[in-house]
Amino acid sequence: MVVKKEITKEQKLSSLESKKSFFLRKMEIADLAEVYKLGELCFRADLWPMLYRGWDEYEVTTMFNTDGDYCFVAENDNYKKGITSEDERIVGFVLGTVMSKPGTAWSYGYIVWICAHSAWQRDGVASKLVDKAVEAFVENEGVRIIMADTDPSNEKAVKFFKKKGFGQERQHVFLASNIENNPHYSHLIHKSRAQALEEQYLKKLRMMAVRSSGLASIKNKKQKPVQKKKSKKKKKN
Ligand SMILES: CC(C)(COP(=O)(O)OP(=O)(O)OC[C@H]1O[C@@H](n2cnc3c(N)ncnc32)[C@H](O)[C@@H]1OP(=O)(O)O)[C@@H](O)C(=O)NCCC(=O)NCCS
Repeated sequence: MVVKKEITKEQKLSSLESKKSFFLRKMEIADLAEVYKLGELCFRADLWPMLYRGWDEYEVTTMFNTDGDYCFVAENDNYKKGITSEDERIVGFVLGTVMSKPGTAWSYGYIVWICAHSAWQRDGVASKLVDKAVEAFVENEGVRIIMADTDPSNEKAVKFFKKKGFGQERQHVFLASNIENNPHYSHLIHKSRAQALEEQYLKKLRMMAVRSSGLASIKNKKQKPVQKKKSKKKKKN
């Protein structure tokens, strides 16, 4: 007698989990929104405020328009099979650019943004994406130096880049100032506030002048739509 084994939903899911696979391709217009959303989850304000500040819709669209040859996504194979929902279609992306210094023969490949979906980390997604970007840098521009940067506290990314052979680490210091309390620039804030108040005051004065001259009522009268008088129908007796 053949005993049919019932496969539970959890077993199905875990068997899919173990069959995680993806393919790489150039980023397309249809990917922009999803790439932006995935970046919002990756570049978190609470962890890395500088990364988060630089990430917005314009960053994605601008890089796509200017450096499309160096923008790649990793797409989940299960999406095409209809197994995965839309929010796990793109499981990683890399946005790169090439910078050249005028007057020198050198050009630099720059990994500007790299991200792997949280459910797909340590699955080789970012590794393959960086390989793809570097390949494009070399093939298209003969690049010999690749740069990457991140927040020094972003251990995952630092370990990742080191694993990919990046070294010559330099710390870069970012400074910020709230200019309201900065003795060099606070006068600019006071000046713009004073200007705004003056404009408000002048607006009030202009309105009062218009009201007192009676212009406002004339204007209002002119603007009233002319209503046609309804002709009263004579009641038939
Ligand atoms: C950093 C990041 C892109 C790595 O992506 P990933 O797809 O998980 O990386 P990979 O699976 O390709 O890892 C390749 C190797 O990098 C190293 N590595 C990656 N993540 C690591 C981690 N969390 N801890 C230690 N080593 C790590 C490992 O050596 C790994 O190889 P192994 O898994 O065989 O040991 C990913 O963690 C991420 O998206 N972080 C948030 C976004 C971010 O910080 N981007 C960088 C700044 S723009």
